[in-house]
Amino acid sequence: MRSIATWGSEIMETIELVVAGTCDETPRVRSFVLRRLDGSSLPSFEAGAHVDVTLTGDDGQALQRSYSLCGDPDARDSWRLGVLRESAGRGGSIAVHNTWLPGTHVRVSAPKNHFPLAASSLPAGAQHVLIAGGIGITPLMAMVHALRKSGEEWALHYCARSRDDAAFVGELEHLAGQRLHLHLDGGNPARGLDVRALISAAPPGSHVYVCGPRGLNEAVIASAASAGWAREHIHHEFFSTAPLAVGDRAFTVRLQASGRCVAVAADESVLDALLREDLEPLYDCKRGECGLCAVPVVSGEVDHRDYVLSDADRTSGRQMCICVSRVRSGDLILDL
Ligand code: FES
Repeated sequence: MRSIATWGSEIMETIELVVAGTCDETPRVRSFVLRRLDGSSLPSFEAGAHVDVTLTGDDGQALQRSYSLCGDPDARDSWRLGVLRESAGRGGSIAVHNTWLPGTHVRVSAPKNHFPLAASSLPAGAQHVLIAGGIGITPLMAMVHALRKSGEEWALHYCARSRDDAAFVGELEHLAGQRLHLHLDGGNPARGLDVRALISAAPPGSHVYVCGPRGLNEAVIASAASAGWAREHIHHEFFSTAPLAVGDRAFTVRLQASGRCVAVAADESVLDALLREDLEPLYDCKRGECGLCAVPVVSGEVDHRDYVLSDADRTSGRQMCICVSRVRSGDLILDL
């Protein structure tokens, strides 16, 4: 059954599925197999894609969360999600773990992908370098399935505290064989993956894909950038919104079309300020990765914090991603 729901200001078609099975992959990670109620085929998806899930929190409020599809993209009979139970989180993962039992009906969006594999073939000798930290393995699982069929070179570096904490590790050993490199640090990052060495050793023309804790993602992005990698060869997905930066200040954003002024607090994004005022800007990831919230700038010196705009866009200052970027000084006027 399909129906329409809203996700931010976006109209979202949702699909009703049933939990066909669950499996405890680690003490904190459980996987969920979802099927259509009538057993018919699901929409196809590309490796790296996620679905948005509608949940009910402890207080009865609706929650929306995004989870990567971690099965084989070519399997149309079921989808699989892997969810880390975060006791100190905002309640979404707890709701999934507590209420998604076999037979439970759930509502999810069609797959969306802000973290795809490179669209063009790699040059000779280059490889896809996959780097996962913890539950960040989930989108890379789908990439492993896709790359096994592609004939291209690839390797998977999987960082975890211990083998017992590494979800899907047995399955990955089977799927990836010698291409899997486990980095078990025992909780001491100094014993973990040497990101800089890995990036320097990658053959020219390679692409890197990282999904894990913010520190790992940022280390990979910074190492690849400082090694001169083109931005389009550096692919990443963050779990969370960007933390506030020291010195962030309040400012006012004026919307050119209506003349309306909205105050943006020091600890909120422009996007959240507009949503608070019942305005309806487009958005999805809220992490500066999808580009959906980019809007034209009329005036204001933008402090760009996204990962999607081109250098030319940043230099021109004509656009900004309002989920993460701010204004350096003075106020901001947007062409909205
Ligand atoms: S919502 Fe994705 S970049 Fe802003």
